[in-house]
Amino acid sequence: MRPHCLRTAHSRELDGYDDAVGRYEGSVGEEPESPSGISRRKVLTTGAAAAIVGAGVGAAGVALLGSPSRGPNLWTRPNQSGAQPVGGLHLQFGKDASTGVVVSWHTTDAVRNPRVMVGTPTSGFGRVVQAETRTYRDAKSKTEVRVNHARLGNLAPDTVYIYAAVHDGTNPELGTVRTAPSGRNPFRFTSFGDQSTPTLDQLKKTSYRSDNLGSPASGDTTTAIERLGPLFNLVNGDLCYANLAHDRIRSWSDWFDNNTRSARYRPWMPAAGNHENELGNGPVGYAAYQTYFALPDSGSDTELRGLWYSFTAGSVRVISLSNDDVCFQDAGNFYVHGYSGGAQKRWLETELADARADSRVDWVVVCMHQTAISTADRTNGADLGIRQEWLPLFDRYQVDLVVCGHEHHYERSHPVRGAQDTETKTPIPVETRADVIDTSKGTVHLVIGGGGTSNPTNTMFFPEPKCRVLTSVGQLDPAIGHKAPFYVVEDAPWSAFRDRQNPYGFVAFDVDPGSPGGNTSMKATHYAVNGPYAAISVVEEFTLTRPRRG
Ligand SMILES: [Fe+2]
Repeated sequence: MRPHCLRTAHSRELDGYDDAVGRYEGSVGEEPESPSGISRRKVLTTGAAAAIVGAGVGAAGVALLGSPSRGPNLWTRPNQSGAQPVGGLHLQFGKDASTGVVVSWHTTDAVRNPRVMVGTPTSGFGRVVQAETRTYRDAKSKTEVRVNHARLGNLAPDTVYIYAAVHDGTNPELGTVRTAPSGRNPFRFTSFGDQSTPTLDQLKKTSYRSDNLGSPASGDTTTAIERLGPLFNLVNGDLCYANLAHDRIRSWSDWFDNNTRSARYRPWMPAAGNHENELGNGPVGYAAYQTYFALPDSGSDTELRGLWYSFTAGSVRVISLSNDDVCFQDAGNFYVHGYSGGAQKRWLETELADARADSRVDWVVVCMHQTAISTADRTNGADLGIRQEWLPLFDRYQVDLVVCGHEHHYERSHPVRGAQDTETKTPIPVETRADVIDTSKGTVHLVIGGGGTSNPTNTMFFPEPKCRVLTSVGQLDPAIGHKAPFYVVEDAPWSAFRDRQNPYGFVAFDVDPGSPGGNTSMKATHYAVNGPYAAISVVEEFTLTRPRRG
């Protein structure tokens, strides 16, 4: 389905750019694109190189490799030829995190023969997988970014692989990755949002300043994630704030440069936030995000690829959503409310029903950006669109946990189910116990937006729990450059914990599969990030539990 309701509500600095492209030289979706999924739009096309899709370790790789008995592959010493280096090396899981991983890196120059060599620590590099290249041209700078994605399939569960990413004319960059366990086994994952970059950017007069809402904490968070060593990290949107930046390309580059020291060892699985919406870059503004990441295929229209997806790790099904589709707030470069025409919601309901019908899945975790709950004043607040569109589905299918951002602090809700008959559809808490929480009774929402920005909101909580719910928007307000928001303030009986002390942090989740016939649990630890060298401290701990399904 083509996006609808694509309205540029008002002029911005980039108004008039309509030539952004998101050109795909290949496809790295989990499944071949169905004929009906090919858009008529010219801005996003699928090229002939799509035949490479799924090459994985199949015939193409074998042909390149020759016999594995020849030992580790050798690459030529190409750095003297001056090709751009492997930039921003990072990973994504496939739909089944126990068998599929995508290795990605980018350049702005065209490169030849992008490929990944992969093996195990004991066997050495034994396979070569060709990468497909996706590109987009940033409408602001006219710079073309080329992202190489090598899809590694048929991997063994719970196994550590080593890999090297390279293209002709440069040196290989090395990484490792552990695949997810299959079935009910313990593992750890982490989550935070709203990170930005710790680097300086725009030259202003004679000095540099942050061009994209960054702070030194943006670097500390990454170091701290590595200290915890999760299987994967969920990034709850607003990655690098490129849509605020003078130099979007540098903002993305800096973000990946900061995070490759973690994201090349464990997938950082993102959700798209309002600051991934870039005027002129693709029909809904996410061409950069969609090009940098090769995320599991959801069967969506090509133009909307990667904006919502799911993957399974052990007994956990993670669902990533794109909330600009349903939020009323106008907080991107341009207003895209309703852009999927209901396609995302239809997919979500099918996905949730499938998860709950799958006896291998105990936990349903939703990762998204904008929030249904917030007790901060004078900032974004909660959005009624999420409460109207998503929360009834979360109730119906017993979503256990929602991680989000948008607000630059940490707070937690009690488990909620159903809504009061009010204009804000206030979520109803079903219990208030703080140490052990049965998520089969209600969904726990966590705002984890202290990833590192220069404007944290942990000092902006209402004294008593209240929530500003954004219920609608009006016309463009020139003073703020967005559609005027209308808020209704409600009491927040669902509010369970608010971290007033710490501007930065993340949450680690330790999944314990439990025993047959018993409960499974997920211990959550909210860590404050206190400084460099991965200085962290525990702020609160609680345990989610639910009956195990198999
Ligand atoms: Fe945001």
